[in-house]
Amino acid sequence: MTEDEQKLAAAKEAVTHITDGMVVGLGTGSTAAKMVDLVGEKVKNGLDIIAVPTSEATASQAKKLGIKVVGLDEVSVIDLTIDGTDEVDPQMRLIKGGGGAHLREKIVASLSDKMIVIAENKKMVEKLGKFKLPVEVIPFASGALLPKMEALGCQPSLRMQGDKLFYTDENNLIIDCAFEQIEDPEELALTLSTIPGVVEHGLFIDYADLVLIGTDEGVKQFERS
Ligand code: A5P
Repeated sequence: MTEDEQKLAAAKEAVTHITDGMVVGLGTGSTAAKMVDLVGEKVKNGLDIIAVPTSEATASQAKKLGIKVVGLDEVSVIDLTIDGTDEVDPQMRLIKGGGGAHLREKIVASLSDKMIVIAENKKMVEKLGKFKLPVEVIPFASGALLPKMEALGCQPSLRMQGDKLFYTDENNLIIDCAFEQIEDPEELALTLSTIPGVVEHGLFIDYADLVLIGTDEGVKQFERS
């Protein structure tokens, strides 16, 4: 199976959890985009749901597919969010934000009754940190925060898009932090959350309820106990 086929297999399994009447959080990224396409097909075939997208890109994809899209202020509960990930460890802790959408993704996931994470096999890691941890910061603080991040033991770099700075949907910047290995994700998450100017980091701890990994042997499922 190619990585794309693994992503699609995980996405197909995930959408079987969507039922009529649900409010569904739609993630961001290449894996989530496959899931959104599948949701679009289901909607065309009569599925009745409301969706809360986690980025402008996902909102525009969903709208094109005829999925009813609303903002957070229009729903009181999100039943299920399905999203991709950049890394997942055996404790179902995640690094997200490779696409720069982790701020809205975390808000939507935090308001969801259930979060299903979908990914290809290579996203499963023994230890988080090979993927650079995205940290969204307000532009005013970015210069001052680079050395702060370095002091936490990583190699920080401001995310670029070509020769320009990358701006998130919330008009913030991203510092990508190369840790190589994150020994204590919980402690790092807490530390990052207390730094003024940091808007949100890409560590998702205790968010994933079900992880679906596409592999050559089928879709592996890991459930939070
Ligand atoms: C978006 O900011 C991210 O959190 C994505 O969910 C994550 O980067 C996974 O993306 P892919 O499915 O494209 O690998």
